[in-house]
Amino acid sequence: MPWLDWLSLFVRWFHVIAGIAWIGASFYFIWLDNSLETPPEWKKQKGIKGDLWAVHGGGFYEVGKYAYGPEVMPKTLHWFKWEAYSTWMSGFALLIIVYYFAASAYLIDPAVMNLTEGEAIGRGLGLLAGGVLLYELACRSPLANYPKVFALALTALLVVASYLATHWFSGRGAYIHVGALIGSIMVANVWLNIMPAQRKMVDAVAAKQPVDPAWGAGAKLRSVHNNYLTLPILFIMISNHYPMTYQHPQNWLVLVAIMALSAWIRHFFNLRHVGKFSPAVLISGMLGLLAVALWVSWPKAPVAVTTVASPSPSSLSTLDKQVHTLVQTHCIGCHAANPTDEVFKVAPLGVKFDSWEQISRQGRQLVNRTTVTRDMPFLNKTNMTEEERAIIAAWGKEKGF
Ligand code: HEC
Repeated sequence: MPWLDWLSLFVRWFHVIAGIAWIGASFYFIWLDNSLETPPEWKKQKGIKGDLWAVHGGGFYEVGKYAYGPEVMPKTLHWFKWEAYSTWMSGFALLIIVYYFAASAYLIDPAVMNLTEGEAIGRGLGLLAGGVLLYELACRSPLANYPKVFALALTALLVVASYLATHWFSGRGAYIHVGALIGSIMVANVWLNIMPAQRKMVDAVAAKQPVDPAWGAGAKLRSVHNNYLTLPILFIMISNHYPMTYQHPQNWLVLVAIMALSAWIRHFFNLRHVGKFSPAVLISGMLGLLAVALWVSWPKAPVAVTTVASPSPSSLSTLDKQVHTLVQTHCIGCHAANPTDEVFKVAPLGVKFDSWEQISRQGRQLVNRTTVTRDMPFLNKTNMTEEERAIIAAWGKEKGF
């Protein structure tokens, strides 16, 4: 379905742009806060508690941060909320376009759990809604008064989510659901907490009322969570290109380890921004990631079972059998549980064609990549001929793909 590919391209493109704007603005403001200096006396009298100078794009900028608020509300005030909202909306649309429209190919892996499309989508949405709800309840409970204990609870929530997702869905589908959960938590923080707190501050300043510092405090905890979640979520967004992570037998543990280590590395930058240089944090985080890489990809003794062509199931039609044989000849060198290709040691994008069941479940993608986009077999390494592609096209037509 080429139109779905185009839709996916445009929405993904937008999603990346919005995400860069969101996380970029967030990184910029953290940097800003941590780089402010004591302003001169005349600025202090205006209520400015910190200022800084910067040069960028051919101009000088002077930024000041008020201890409470300006005397008069400026006509234009920039909020920075649509970056977050549009990232979430486009991300959710993409989840539906890629994983829910083609759930049987991307979300369901019968070797993990044999779900119907409806069941898989239901579990996916349930995981997201349940996770955000639990997080919100925890934030509103006394747990929020103990930030370190809360951090442990949040970690536990993500561990459970990773474990459940990887035991329900395909590796890719599981990782993206954990990413979607983190993204939803981050946006809920902006929408339900950070924005309302800012609105109260703005209203108070406009009405010339004092600003209650407590409004900012609740929003602060959420902001800290969002800050630590940025590196893990960015890893998950690119993880789809690295099947050695989500295809690993303990893929949930790989995910948890990389999330925890990247949040730990974020901690190094947070410390550095407040003037504490702790190389031990950065180095231990990097060594940890190296250890994960060694654990995941340590060369194993050669697997005795090489992928051998299996006979076509006898129940198949002649055309089915022809396609089955073509896939055996042209695809399973790479797309198998144990690929024999010298470069691709793990099935690319988790796409495996070992059994007829797998072939027919991913039939739409199979036909698309061999006869429409024609980028498979990869670099036409196995020299698939036009006649062979025509057979696959005929099969796709017969099946209605
Ligand atoms: C030499 C290795 C190799 C061979 C042989 C090969 N592929 Fe691929 N395949 C890849 C790689 C690498 C990717 C990932 C490309 C990317 O990241 O977009 C891929 C991706 C795919 C995808 C995309 C999945 C997705 O989610 O977008 C499909 C479908 C696919 N291959 C089908 C086939 C079919 C059908 C054949 C046989 C006709 C085949 N491949 C042969 C290496 C191979």
